[in-house]
Amino acid sequence: MRRLHEGLGGIEAASSLLAHGDLVALPTETVYGLAADATNADAVAAVFAAKGRPAHNPLIIHVADLAGAEALGRFDDLSRALAHAFWPGPLTLVLDVMADCPIVDLARPGGQTLALRVPAHPLFQAVLKHLGRPLAAPSANPSGGLSPTSADHVQAGLDGKIAAVLDGGPCPVGLESTVLRVKDGIAHILRPGGLTRERIEAVAGRIGSALPGPDAKYLSSPGQLLSHYAPRAQVRLNATQMKPNEALLAFGPDMPQKLGPVLNLSPKADLTEAASHLFDYLKRLDETGVGVIAVMPIPDMGLGEAINDRLKRAAADRGR
Ligand code: TXA
Ligand code: MG
Repeated sequence: MRRLHEGLGGIEAASSLLAHGDLVALPTETVYGLAADATNADAVAAVFAAKGRPAHNPLIIHVADLAGAEALGRFDDLSRALAHAFWPGPLTLVLDVMADCPIVDLARPGGQTLALRVPAHPLFQAVLKHLGRPLAAPSANPSGGLSPTSADHVQAGLDGKIAAVLDGGPCPVGLESTVLRVKDGIAHILRPGGLTRERIEAVAGRIGSALPGPDAKYLSSPGQLLSHYAPRAQVRLNATQMKPNEALLAFGPDMPQKLGPVLNLSPKADLTEAASHLFDYLKRLDETGVGVIAVMPIPDMGLGEAINDRLKRAAADRGR
């Protein structure tokens, strides 16, 4: 794959590849996205093929601004208020799709709905404006693996399968966007992510539980498979001690005795810093070849909710 760099040359090259239906990984503030012209059925089909993604898992459509989103999805008042408050940024809104929506069916399998997001990264924004079309972009990793937060991660996962990656350095947030659906005036979180529950509550008030029930189909995010974000090694959660032959993903100042490789997500126990390191440190510990990555407890507040969601999926039984 070609490695493109920030600056007008890289932005033009990325836009021109995308305009021709090629796939280009682009940096967002959350993780790198594998972008394709969302109005080109062949390009969107190629995204599913490159990732090995199950066909029933719909894609997030990225647009430059709220006006671009209003052309594709039907906004209720609360969704619009949330967009005003948090776009551009790590929030994805699931909306009913507009009639005559130009987004190809393949990007929204089964779908009367569309997931929309306005990313904050200046390079992604520049490509959207240059191209003038919406971009479908799942995380730029093979399906089921760890999401990429650097151009090197993208290259390691997808080399030979996509045209290029636009290198924007490390992604500042490090966790995917929060996916949210408003139903009957109440916001439901379908996937915790880089925008915290606390910040959403400040705008939306009480958040509905998206637990299984009569609304399960309406309020489910088909991509929320239990096993996901899986490193090669097994993952052991809530570890307070290391065992021999383990690596440790630590958090906070109080460290157990070191018996193998250790990386600390945030020695000062800062959840924002921990989120930005999560996928990179999991990959690095995985590359040491250990059988098990033990993970210290992480508080379940703020960004900790999304961090723990990813860790739980990383630890889930993969049926092997
Ligand atoms: O931060 C992010 O969201 C990144 C960057 C690249 O924008 N993208 C990302 O995409 O994480 P992906 O494909 O890895 O995850 C998209 C999630 C999946 O859980 C998918 O099921 C859900 O969004 N989703 C997409 N369209 C949906 C829809 N119409 N209804 C419900 N969930 C949807
Ligand atoms: Mg993903």
